[in-house]
Amino acid sequence: MKTTSGIVLAAIASFFLLSSCNSKEKEALPRERTSLNKDWNFALNADSARLLNGEVVRKLNLPHDWAIEGTFSEKNPSGCGGGALPGGIGWYSKEFTLEDADSAKKIFIDFEGVYMNSKVFINDFMVGERPYGYISFRYDLTPYVHPGKNILKVRVDNSEQPNSRWYSGCGIYRNVWLVKTNPIYVDLWGTYVTTPVVNEKQATVKVVTTLKNETSEEVNAELTSLVLDAKQKEIAKSVSAVKISKRDPQEVTQEIQVEAPVLWTLENPTMYTLRTQVRKDGILIDQYDTPMGIRTFQFDAQKGFFLNGKQVKIKGVCMHHDLGCLGSAFNVRAAERQLQILKEMGVNGFRCSHNPPAPEMLDLLDRMGFIVMDEAFDMWRKRKTTYDYSRYFNQWHERDLTDLVLRDRNHPSIFMWSIGNEVLEQWTDAKADTLDIQAANLLLNLKRDPNALAQEDSGMSVNSLLTKKLAGVVRGLDPTRPVTAGNNESNKNNHLFRAKALDIIGFNYHEYAFKDVPSDFPGMPFIETESTSALMTRGYYRMPSDSLFAWPVAWDKPFYDSTFSCSSYDNCRAQWGSTHEQAWRVVKNLDFVSGMYIWTGFDYIGEPTPFWWPARSSYFGIVDLAGFPKDVYYMYQSEWTDKDVLHLFPHWNWKPGEIVDLWAYYNNADEVELFVNGKSQGVKTKGKDEFHVMWRVPFEAGTIKVISRKNGKEVLTREIKTAGEPAQIRLTPDRSEIAADGTDLSFVTVEILDKDGNLCPWAENLVNFEVEGSAFVAGVDNGSPISLESFKASNRKAFYGKCLVVLQNNGTEGKIQLRATSEGLQNQTIKLKAEE
Ligand code: GAL
Repeated sequence: MKTTSGIVLAAIASFFLLSSCNSKEKEALPRERTSLNKDWNFALNADSARLLNGEVVRKLNLPHDWAIEGTFSEKNPSGCGGGALPGGIGWYSKEFTLEDADSAKKIFIDFEGVYMNSKVFINDFMVGERPYGYISFRYDLTPYVHPGKNILKVRVDNSEQPNSRWYSGCGIYRNVWLVKTNPIYVDLWGTYVTTPVVNEKQATVKVVTTLKNETSEEVNAELTSLVLDAKQKEIAKSVSAVKISKRDPQEVTQEIQVEAPVLWTLENPTMYTLRTQVRKDGILIDQYDTPMGIRTFQFDAQKGFFLNGKQVKIKGVCMHHDLGCLGSAFNVRAAERQLQILKEMGVNGFRCSHNPPAPEMLDLLDRMGFIVMDEAFDMWRKRKTTYDYSRYFNQWHERDLTDLVLRDRNHPSIFMWSIGNEVLEQWTDAKADTLDIQAANLLLNLKRDPNALAQEDSGMSVNSLLTKKLAGVVRGLDPTRPVTAGNNESNKNNHLFRAKALDIIGFNYHEYAFKDVPSDFPGMPFIETESTSALMTRGYYRMPSDSLFAWPVAWDKPFYDSTFSCSSYDNCRAQWGSTHEQAWRVVKNLDFVSGMYIWTGFDYIGEPTPFWWPARSSYFGIVDLAGFPKDVYYMYQSEWTDKDVLHLFPHWNWKPGEIVDLWAYYNNADEVELFVNGKSQGVKTKGKDEFHVMWRVPFEAGTIKVISRKNGKEVLTREIKTAGEPAQIRLTPDRSEIAADGTDLSFVTVEILDKDGNLCPWAENLVNFEVEGSAFVAGVDNGSPISLESFKASNRKAFYGKCLVVLQNNGTEGKIQLRATSEGLQNQTIKLKAEE
């Protein structure tokens, strides 16, 4: 056994040397937070022994997801539900160097997320383990490190699968930071900022700061909390003298008045910064920034959600954490792109389903203006898959839930906490242990046994007590936000409801039961925590478009359809769900419904309902896995935004004489008129609560054109031509200048066109990519839920005419050239650049 106390004493002694210092130290950095993402050594499964022997097996940078590099197989234990990609046990190691001066410091390592079952070792001491793959955590390395070379090793075990109902990814898939502080410092997540009073003239910013003193005696210090405006200009502050005892963390409460506050709104999400400074003997010994916002909100039983006094319908989407072909390896630009695409559609809400997101995702949501539901768990004690978190729940739930709230409670974008999604504790006997989750879903949603509910006269059940406990943990740490949960049992005798511990009643689906909410839950605000679950494959259309496909058809029979495709006419949905139009119609028209979170914004890897292998990613998205909007995206845009929308679909490449349903989504117009080869097919108008119009016409090659008009004047026009044979490639980057920071991305849309530039809607050409200069191919995709091609290859087949290549900067500055080639097609080259 190594002894650590000597190192600790040395650290304390040198701190005091430091604090009796001269002006040079006064300028020293009080806290350093550096990225530890670069230059890790990695090995998987059998190769790990080599890494542990000190051999370099493979060098890589974090965030990293080894599963996304793997090969799809029906035999992978994750199953199609988990994305059919491999799991395993991975080891990571990294050397880092500390200076002599660092002996005076506290040395911490912060992991934002490791999936899953991580164990962390520093210089061969194990410092801790964390089963939950979505939680952020810190270890104090101080007793185990020394000046010079130190070695970190991380074991990640995602070998026991299935442990998730969707694709989890594997590895250290979020950022890692090395943090150095003085022994008197602001604790991890050590600020709690609330705004108890907000009006036009003034806002009271209440700050509770947790300070730690790891020296050998009580110290007198000074705590300054400054509020900086969006331009980082100091506008208000509070200074307090504090005595910090040497053992327990100390909480200090301050109140700061901000004059004429600029409120955080969805349109202008103004962020302030709270800057915390700790001084001892006039010397700055710690400085810590907390981004914050000022807003008021309320959930009302009759009128739903109010932000800054204004009624706002929550038009939200649920999202899982994968970033398509990049897997779960977090990347700020990839997340930002998702949010930009959603924002363009009119989305104003984001549910982190069903687990804590990357902290940078919340930073983006703050800065871009979304109404966030931050969710803790997909299961409690009752499992949903064989090896899931339910195995760790008893031991870890309190810690994980606490850490989630402590980490996230300063984000102005978060408006509610969810303690769980469709946990099986809603029922007394949930039967899911013996059924696969799709069958259980059908059974529990559609054929419930009343005996599985709480019995009215039997007092508080264990499940209700657990609900109460979890809600209590959250409320104890953050009484400013309501607690909810996603329930797929709408009966008031659901054990979660019977706990009377939820502040907002949340239903997943069950729109038919909304009418009973005011009488079943008098005085309670209500939200549709999850809605819709409509199914669509981008580019695929099943006619007639007015016939509905509710898939899978039965809970006890495997579902099969030879197409492995779901229609993009909004006429296909899960049994327990509804079409997009149905769900929105209900939410739009009921004032007491605060809003909805649609399942889902983007497709995600895993859960390929209604199919199974070779399907391996979801059909639920409004946007496909590659980030290409499906048609219904424009239905929402026409309803949820003010901009003029006119979207005509499908394409115009059919068999001669084939009867085709043509739909249009539009807004800001009284009527739309369709022309086929110049001949009018009639003027159409949407009736009340209708969201599209349709014409049924026989196909004849040529041009279709739709015009929208208001007061007789043309608003927009759209035209689609019958495409000829594939002849050329078009490359369209979302950004042609990216940062030379080693992480920035350009998402390049690849389209197969005929010689006249029309998109070939059936094209499946294989496109090869060659990159030169300051970037590499980070991933490729085409949005097909059944493609078994590698996400990491440098080629991709087009899917309904399109695919995607993602370029990532390689850390150098300079030119980038992307060349796309495909047999029989004219090549295409584009130039981009990476700049500091
Ligand atoms: C819900 C569940 C989601 C997803 C969805 C698919 O019941 O909360 O995680 O499985 O069904 O329709």
